[in-house]
Amino acid sequence: MEFESILTENNHGIFRIIINRPKKLNALNRNTIEELHRAFTEAKESNEVKVIILTGMGEKAFVAGADISEFADFSLEEGRKLAAEGQKKLFDFVANFPKPVIAAINGFALGGGLELAMAAHFRVASDNAKMGLPETSLGLIPGYGGTQRLPQLVGKGRAMEMIMTAGMIDANQALQYNLVNHVCEPEELIEFTEKIAGKIMKNSLVAISAAIRAINANFEDGINGFQVEINEFGSSFGTEDFKEGTSAFLSKRKANFPGK
Ligand code: COA
Repeated sequence: MEFESILTENNHGIFRIIINRPKKLNALNRNTIEELHRAFTEAKESNEVKVIILTGMGEKAFVAGADISEFADFSLEEGRKLAAEGQKKLFDFVANFPKPVIAAINGFALGGGLELAMAAHFRVASDNAKMGLPETSLGLIPGYGGTQRLPQLVGKGRAMEMIMTAGMIDANQALQYNLVNHVCEPEELIEFTEKIAGKIMKNSLVAISAAIRAINANFEDGINGFQVEINEFGSSFGTEDFKEGTSAFLSKRKANFPGK
């Protein structure tokens, strides 16, 4: 895959996507969003990709937000389109991605950067990371799902405060807020995240896809998540992974899931 603003690397099924504009603190411009969409599409289709780790290049930033220089002179309609297209192409695409996506937050995750990390299925941060939604300091509100996903993760009051103050929280406060699951030393971030990815890969990725759909159903309006769970649970009984998982357990051996 040839890209200008991102790098990709497959390490035995763990597919790392690195946002690579360190001079601009990995800010998300139009091209970066396009390339991320392409990389995720290819990762979805590839049998060689099992788990995705999303991170930023360098030690300073995961992503310092949407690229402000690109939208500074936008009209109302262009602004609306920017949010709608971005949400569809990248943020919702990642949130509903059928393979696990882990954000490894290696520095500033601000605005669209925190929104991207929140669209991932869960987050690990290095202890130098700083997170916030500073849009109101620019006369905007978050447009890539931040007003919805932040309260889901940290609760309404904390989300209100973070968005109203436009301030940043550090990694330990993010841990306390349940915004990230783990905090580690910057130099251990990728290894630590890959260890979690390794644990995930031992399980049935078909079942994990079904679990992602069922968990996400809890956050969709007008959808009965319990019913989605019942349906997904039932469908699991028709998979080869189910047959392998249960027969491996009963014959006291490790499962070798075919992924079907
Ligand atoms: N969009 C476009 N460019 C950005 C950017 C963004 N969101 N965030 C950082 N950059 C650029 C800076 O303009 C600067 O470019 P330059 O060297 O060509 O002038 C470069 O990245 C380095 O950033 P700089 O501001 O010099 O680093 P700093 O260490 O002084 O400050 C931050 C770091 C993160 C506090 C600061 O860059 C910042 O506030 N960024 C914007 C965050 C934001 O509001 N995001 C939400 C956007 S909706």
